[in-house]
Amino acid sequence: MTKLLQATAEGIKVAAEILRSGGVVGFPTETVYGLGANALSDDAVQKIFAAKQRPTDNPLIVHIANINEAATLVYEIPETVEFLMKTFWPGPLSIVLRARPQISKYATAGLDTVALRFPAHDVAQQLITAAGIPIAAPSANLSGKPSGTLAKHVWRDFDGRIDAVLDGGACEFGLESTVLDGTSNPIRLLRPGSITYEMLAAHVPIEIAERKPNDRPLSPGTKHPHYKPKAEVILVTGDKFTLMREKIVALTRQYDCAVFGLIEVVSGLQTNKVTKLAAYQSLEDLGENLYSFFRECDEEGIKYIILHEVPQSGLGLALMNRMQKAANIIC
Ligand code: TXA
Ligand code: MG
Repeated sequence: MTKLLQATAEGIKVAAEILRSGGVVGFPTETVYGLGANALSDDAVQKIFAAKQRPTDNPLIVHIANINEAATLVYEIPETVEFLMKTFWPGPLSIVLRARPQISKYATAGLDTVALRFPAHDVAQQLITAAGIPIAAPSANLSGKPSGTLAKHVWRDFDGRIDAVLDGGACEFGLESTVLDGTSNPIRLLRPGSITYEMLAAHVPIEIAERKPNDRPLSPGTKHPHYKPKAEVILVTGDKFTLMREKIVALTRQYDCAVFGLIEVVSGLQTNKVTKLAAYQSLEDLGENLYSFFRECDEEGIKYIILHEVPQSGLGLALMNRMQKAANIIC
């Protein structure tokens, strides 16, 4: 049976005990919920892959609650990486470095590197500290589904499949962490997130990893389907709000659909085929609510979701990355 725990001192203590004894716990972070287990135990980590039905070649992020712990889990930490850790940790930033052998080979998917993250969420920090071990955790969603950003999402996917869910409320950012390759020079941005390219590049040289269609995936996770609702996602493009609005109006005449767009683009949109209409006020607002919107649409049996593009700078880079991966049609 899966326990539902509240993020009180007692709930955190019970969850930490489960982690220490090799169990799997869904827990909140400031990005998305994680599905955690002891990163040093092969058995514990294998349970995550089984519960999530995750391909075994996709490595996990290892979470710590103290910056000094990084040096015990990886070999060299280049000066530029150390600077980024000191600047952006705790926070939504994961950094790939050369792994020491005590980390489970299942967590690293057999690679010689590991992604480390020191989350800022208070409950996550208390949980990791109380467990006293590094916690391997992918996003808490069945493989291929949108990441869970509320405890009820984790419950829906994993009730009966894991030991406990620790409910710490809604995640602040709603998008997975920025992932950097700290073993390359310059450091490469493997997955954009809320710590933006611009924020990083203000301090150290950063290269955005571009992948040609036939290249080996840089971050194994990028080759697997991700962030997708069951509904077909249509991503509308256009360099002006009015143009995108016109395209959306045309689509809504054709499809029974849900629309999620910037308030300036979708306000007052009227057509009887729109079964669900939601507006966001800012990119932060979109990030926080995108996956919840996907999950709500799936629950309501909606067949088409219409989104529109946003400028690919700042947080927009991460948002476009997720929306493009979710999209079946870009028009
Ligand atoms: O915000 C987040 O990052 C959340 C929370 C729970 O921390 N976790 C998360 O994990 O999104 P996951 O497993 O859904 O995504 C981890 C990404 C994958 O794309 C994976 O391939 C990549 O990080 N990754 C992990 N270890 C890696 C490594 N050694 N080298 C390259 N990429 C790696
Ligand atoms: Mg994930």
